[in-house]
Amino acid sequence: MKYKVKDMNLAEQGRLNIELAESRMPVLSYLRKKYDNEKPLKGISIGGCLHVTKETAVLIRALKAAGAEVAWSGCNPLSTQDDVAAALVKYYEVPVFAWRGLSNHEYYDCIDEVLNSLPDITMDDGADLIIRIHENYCSLLKKVFGGTEETTTGVHRLRAMATAGKLHYPIVAVNDAETKWDFDNIYGTGQSTLDGIIRSTNVLLAGKTVVVAGYGHCGKGVAMRARGMGANVIVTEVDPMQALKATMDGYRVMPMDGAAPQGNIFVTATGCKEVIKRQHLRKMKDGTILSNTGHFNVEISLRDLEELAKEKKEVRPNVMEYFLCSGKKLYLLAEGRLVNLAAAEGHPSEVMDMSFANQFLSVLYLVQNKGRLNNRVHDVSREQDAEVAVIKLNTLGVDIDRLTREQQRYLKDYTSGT
Ligand SMILES: NC(=O)c1ccc[n+]([C@@H]2O[C@H](COP(=O)([O-])OP(=O)(O)OC[C@H]3O[C@@H](n4cnc5c(N)ncnc54)[C@H](O)[C@@H]3O)[C@@H](O)[C@H]2O)c1
Repeated sequence: MKYKVKDMNLAEQGRLNIELAESRMPVLSYLRKKYDNEKPLKGISIGGCLHVTKETAVLIRALKAAGAEVAWSGCNPLSTQDDVAAALVKYYEVPVFAWRGLSNHEYYDCIDEVLNSLPDITMDDGADLIIRIHENYCSLLKKVFGGTEETTTGVHRLRAMATAGKLHYPIVAVNDAETKWDFDNIYGTGQSTLDGIIRSTNVLLAGKTVVVAGYGHCGKGVAMRARGMGANVIVTEVDPMQALKATMDGYRVMPMDGAAPQGNIFVTATGCKEVIKRQHLRKMKDGTILSNTGHFNVEISLRDLEELAKEKKEVRPNVMEYFLCSGKKLYLLAEGRLVNLAAAEGHPSEVMDMSFANQFLSVLYLVQNKGRLNNRVHDVSREQDAEVAVIKLNTLGVDIDRLTREQQRYLKDYTSGT
């Protein structure tokens, strides 16, 4: 079996981490056991390009148990957990092509290795693999019959491709499932982003001013958790509705120009580019910490930071000190890449349980509907979302009320008023 990982000696630690993650992912474990006998993915080859984390390994195990052949690469140069990559190769016989710290060139080489396995289904986080197929592996388009997409930025890119008439196979937008978006992006990103900032800097959040750029799903989670740790939170936005929500949630809202001189810690969570650039960097306080949790490393202008600096040095892992010509020092975390995965471990297993249950069920959906779906971005069905929510509640031991017949009738009735 061909593979490329950093160090096979890490495999035992990786296996322990995967097992720990699995013990916290009851929905995915339930699905793995449910489909283990039936093998609905027998004969299906899957090419995956998602962060190589212990939770992803649990997803891969479930796909393999259901009968799929799987090959995998990471979707970010800094997010691969090398122990997990080694364990996937050694204990689960998965051809993995990923290690932490690969170059851009190596990153695409790894994706190419996955594509050489000639997948029937692709699984992406950010759409790099799908776009690679469309641009460089056109002959594969005859074989691939569907794909899934894990994150907001990937869904945006794929919707743009579909609008341009350039998307050549159907995609399920796992990101937009309620049981993904409203949990993973909010609670997962909220907690793990602060985890990344704290692990890399050990900074005290209490009393600090944290500026969160973007009050979408991720930004909301980061703002909520930063406030919970005692920070004063400022939100920047471009969407009036989200800005209004942030205001009513009790945050100060202002343009980045106004926030730049006030913040101690900045977190971008927009999926947009150059949200923090030269004019903002110039105004920042000495000692300011800069981090990003959006998918790509384009939210903080690294070019502007480099140009404003006369020196830079790595003061500890994941912390680059930029000494500006003005005499100030700014600290950039994890090279401006998503700080929760590059400087911590990504989302906790409990929340990835739902995201990856959706990934698993979406792959089943693609197989069951092979040849019947248009080449566009499809939403996860309400039924699938509800199934994941019900299983998750059951595994958490949470019971809920049920509507009586009388209540069901009342809710559909328009005649009974005052
Ligand atoms: N770190 C992670 O593990 C993780 C997890 C999920 C999603 N993501 C990524 O995080 C990013 C945000 O995802 P989301 O689900 O919150 O998206 P979202 O669409 O819910 O929210 C993004 C928000 O940013 C705002 N915004 C856009 N451009 C802006 C700008 N220039 N300045 C200020 N605000 C701006 C938008 O108005 C929107 O409210 C995406 O790149 C997504 O792929 C990362």
